[in-house]
Amino acid sequence: MTATRAQFREAFIEEVRAATDIVEVIGEHVALKRRGRDWWGLCPFHVEKTPSFSVSAEKQMFYCFGCQTGGNVFTFLMKKEGLEFGEALRLLADRAGIPLPKADLDPEARRRQEQREQLTRLLEAAVEFYVKQLEQAGGRQARAYLARRGLEPETVARFRLGYAPDAWDGCLEALGRRGWSPEMLAQAGLVVETTDARGERRYYDRFRHRLMFPIFDLTGRPIGFGGRVLEGAEPEQPKYVNSPEGPVFSKGRNLYGLNWARDGIRRAGHAVITEGYTDVITAHQAGFTHLVASLGTALTTQQARLLLRYCREVVTAFDADTAGQEATLRGLEVLKQTGLRVRVAMLPDGKDPDDCIRSFGPDAFGRALENAVPLVEYRFRRAMERQDTSTVQGKVRVAGEVVPVLAGLESAVEREEYLKRFARELGVDPEALRTEVEKARRGQARGQGRGRPGAGRWKIPAGTDKLAVYRHNKEEKGNDGKKLGVYRAEQQLLGLMATDPGVARRVAEAVGADGFSDPAHRKVAAALFAWANAGGAEGVRPALLEDDEAAQALARATFSFVEPPDRDRLLEDLLARVEAARRYKRIEELEGMMRERERRGEPVPSELLRELADLVRSAKGRGQPARGPGAEKR
Ligand code: UTP
Ligand code: MN
Repeated sequence: MTATRAQFREAFIEEVRAATDIVEVIGEHVALKRRGRDWWGLCPFHVEKTPSFSVSAEKQMFYCFGCQTGGNVFTFLMKKEGLEFGEALRLLADRAGIPLPKADLDPEARRRQEQREQLTRLLEAAVEFYVKQLEQAGGRQARAYLARRGLEPETVARFRLGYAPDAWDGCLEALGRRGWSPEMLAQAGLVVETTDARGERRYYDRFRHRLMFPIFDLTGRPIGFGGRVLEGAEPEQPKYVNSPEGPVFSKGRNLYGLNWARDGIRRAGHAVITEGYTDVITAHQAGFTHLVASLGTALTTQQARLLLRYCREVVTAFDADTAGQEATLRGLEVLKQTGLRVRVAMLPDGKDPDDCIRSFGPDAFGRALENAVPLVEYRFRRAMERQDTSTVQGKVRVAGEVVPVLAGLESAVEREEYLKRFARELGVDPEALRTEVEKARRGQARGQGRGRPGAGRWKIPAGTDKLAVYRHNKEEKGNDGKKLGVYRAEQQLLGLMATDPGVARRVAEAVGADGFSDPAHRKVAAALFAWANAGGAEGVRPALLEDDEAAQALARATFSFVEPPDRDRLLEDLLARVEAARRYKRIEELEGMMRERERRGEPVPSELLRELADLVRSAKGRGQPARGPGAEKR
């Protein structure tokens, strides 16, 4: 069954691809000029003055010779617009007027998708309903409130703010007239379902006499609402009522404002996370278009992933009491763990961004963002403020709080810098602090079950051979053989394969996809093998790689491929290099197995020893094969 579904999907992707011209799509984002066979323009992924970004209609791929970003039409949109593959596919299908297939989903998934689409239409109708209410007589108080808060009509329109009328059945009635059932309204979270005294189901509006903030997903589809209380409500009313979690609304998977902030975040190179709807809106109005809000939950990994599509750094701008809370700090650690750099802005007087902009002006807010400090620094400041550092106990407590944070820093330079500065400010001996940090680091390393790599008796003494170089690069730089030219060799091999299905078949026999050391290269190789086996027509199929890394690797391989004077010799040469790399890998594997046995006090089987000895001999003996002509050309 799955095979059939996968085939449907393949066919659909191919249909969309065939109806799409990469030059036209990219041409909507980049001014392209024809030169030779390809189209050229200024790269949208890095700053440049002369064009090194090229698009090939023939290959249906793009590649930048400057920053080496490349891929197909799908991955272009993924990178440029921060979309998932499925989203890019949908967009291009829409553009080409191709209906989304439902046939490739199983009945349950299809039902869920239809339900989501229906709910989205309903929520869109609700957004329009609340917007209209704001414009009408009943919305006068809400309008006055917005004006008092300094929100301009254009801002109100852009964020599609609305008003929920002061009634139990305003939304129920109005949307009911348009054919939406109470059950659907309940599923969308717009009405609440109860049972009355006689056991009958009743429905009433969830949002009553509230200022309505519609919440959108990153592509701009409505998913829910936040409703703020207005004057004149009963005093026990909560300040905000939010849509409940449901089939389309999930707080932990979305960020308020991301649909408007995507470009701003990319331009700024970082996102600012705050708490409130109004913070985002006021900031955007003031020109800070890179703000999003966390929707009132602790930050999640999914939210971090959303941001990672656009930036590598996050600045948090929470008001002072929330910023210090443990839950918030844990949320920031979640962001850090996904690879985002985190800085914390300290807003004057414990205000939120909206207050800050309104009372001190945009410049003061801008300065607070610029002066944001790294998380380590923030933790240190906070500990310093909370403890009495004139006493020994106080110092010990501050040290106790910062040691794990320092130990968690991966860069030794950074660790050392902070360590020295903190020791000085705290008035303790840096040596003493260093000892603590080292101890904590050893503890952390053990906790993660990773000792020093390569430690143990089975390590082969390093000479000045290729094997040692490989091992050194891998262990010290985490570089999987790139220094040996293996990465480059694999890339050239892929470039060669893409020009000739015969070469692809030859490589399939000689080393197979697993013979490639780089994971993206393995995917490209597998795609090229499949293409070659299917007759190798046009080179279209591998260009469809959904995987961004793989698509990029393929673009790089084909665009940077230079026709060599002697193809056969180049092929043999490249194969030899790739095989050598594979040998190194196997050597490592064997060493690992031996260390493991040694650790458990088990004997090492002689076959392993023999295989290792053979491999080491051939690895050292052969060295680097002769360079093929053009092998190092770019
Ligand atoms: P705040 O209380 O700081 O509100 O809550 P705010 O956004 O600054 O609103 P104004 O400026 O007083 O109008 C911050 C965020 O926490 C969530 C909302 O997302 C809100 O924007 N929140 C707050 C709730 O979900 N429910 C509440 O009752 C309060
Ligand atoms: Mn506020």
